Amino acid sequence: MKTIIVSEIMETKSLTYVSQFPLWLLCFIIITLINAEEGFEFPKNFLFGTASSAYQYEGAYLTDGKNLSNWDVFTSIPGKIADGSHGKVAVDHYHRYPEDLDLMEDLGVNSYRLSFSWARILPKGRFGDVNMGGIDHYNRMINAILKRGIEPFVTLTHYDLPQELVVRYGSWLDPQIREDFENYAEICFRHFGDRVKFWATFNEPNVQVVLGYRTGTYPPSRCSKTFGNCTHGDSEIEPFLAAHNIIRSHLAAVNLYRTKFQEQQRGKIGIVMNTIWFEPVSDSLADILAVERAQAFYLTWFLDPVVFGRYPREMQEILGEDLLEFTKDDLKRSKNGLDFIGINQYTSRYAKDCLHSACEPGKGGSRAEGFVYANALKDGSHLGEPTGVNWFSTYPQGMEEMLMYAAKRYKDIPLYVTENGFGENNTGVLLNDHRRVKFMSNYLDALKRAMRKGADVRGYFAWSLLDNFEWISGYTIRFGMYHVDFKTQERTPRLSAFWYKNFIFHHRAQSKYG
Ligand code: FCB
Repeated sequence: MKTIIVSEIMETKSLTYVSQFPLWLLCFIIITLINAEEGFEFPKNFLFGTASSAYQYEGAYLTDGKNLSNWDVFTSIPGKIADGSHGKVAVDHYHRYPEDLDLMEDLGVNSYRLSFSWARILPKGRFGDVNMGGIDHYNRMINAILKRGIEPFVTLTHYDLPQELVVRYGSWLDPQIREDFENYAEICFRHFGDRVKFWATFNEPNVQVVLGYRTGTYPPSRCSKTFGNCTHGDSEIEPFLAAHNIIRSHLAAVNLYRTKFQEQQRGKIGIVMNTIWFEPVSDSLADILAVERAQAFYLTWFLDPVVFGRYPREMQEILGEDLLEFTKDDLKRSKNGLDFIGINQYTSRYAKDCLHSACEPGKGGSRAEGFVYANALKDGSHLGEPTGVNWFSTYPQGMEEMLMYAAKRYKDIPLYVTENGFGENNTGVLLNDHRRVKFMSNYLDALKRAMRKGADVRGYFAWSLLDNFEWISGYTIRFGMYHVDFKTQERTPRLSAFWYKNFIFHHRAQSKYG
């Protein structure tokens, strides 16, 4: 909050007072003091941006040759989405991106994290032609992004894929998905890699497999009866199978980029993970050990194989021979199978041991969960502050801890905070989102603390520029620094948009960044 006060004074009053030397001097002194106190400068080239995803923003669900995606089909099933909505129009970013990029330019961001819709580029996966309508659209968009001095940071798949691949072979459960993903990645590198210098293969594959195959709340709605309300699936087996195919697909795309494109295109390739910081629910040894198991069954599950060529030890101990093996070829590819790690950081939870104590399946009592029960409550009180969004309580310290954890475990791999933001239920708060401002300010302070301690963080992307389609919550939760009227598509800045603009302005002025 310190920053906003000073920057606001700077911005709103500087014109009036520019000739009044004492006030100008006072501002200058305050800023200098703040910096001296913080002792912190964001490095040159630090990326400040906002993040979005194709399904949540684009709309235009069958425009210019796009075919159905898994999310198009899933949202059409009654009862799946809280308000019965879908992303057919979403915030119409497909048509309104020039206007939205103007908003970004006005905020002063120097990067934009977006995802491509796979079904727009390859409507039938590798079983059909490349859709030039989709290619042309993203070409225009990338050019428009660059024209505004903004760096595109592209995720190849943010939960969505062509429905064709679901129908043909069950998507991520079949190893042949790797060929499809590699083919899709190649087309993207070939068409856009001259201008896109940051590629993320996947967004939050850990969320995708846990919700898609353990609890069944996301497509393809597969789970065992003890875990959720699904007609098919096996929560103890399928998440691991899907994850294995995702990891191998990631490695294949990275290998392809490294061997065919990277030298010439000079970009970076990585993966984006959802992260939860876990605190032990008590100081018992069992709960302390449960914390590491919780990370193993959530984060290091994907990152360890890519970086070290093996699943985390805690996971091996629990799943033993049921854990799939990597081939020699995979292992060769997994050497440095990342140029960066994307960290999506929102929330933290308590971890409770269920290996030595009895818990119900779905509440920690299963191998699939690593015998850990992760929950925000301890004796009825929250870790951090609840937000009204069921999965989300705010705990800024978790940002610092999470970044330090990743920095220590995956030494020398740069980190980007690829998502962080505050969601509010769709109840009343329109523009005065002071809770979002507080959230961003506190989380960014935590990020700075981690950087000061040595974490190599190179970017921060706020989720999100605009209110948008929030997956199974539909339009009932709002994450935008801009309010969107979903009927008229009008965008109106909230307090947080001004705050973020000031924050970036301040750091640009005070650091070597810019
Ligand atoms: C993340 C997702 C993103 C958005 C935010 C609120 O887990 O990656 O698409 O829904 O949560």
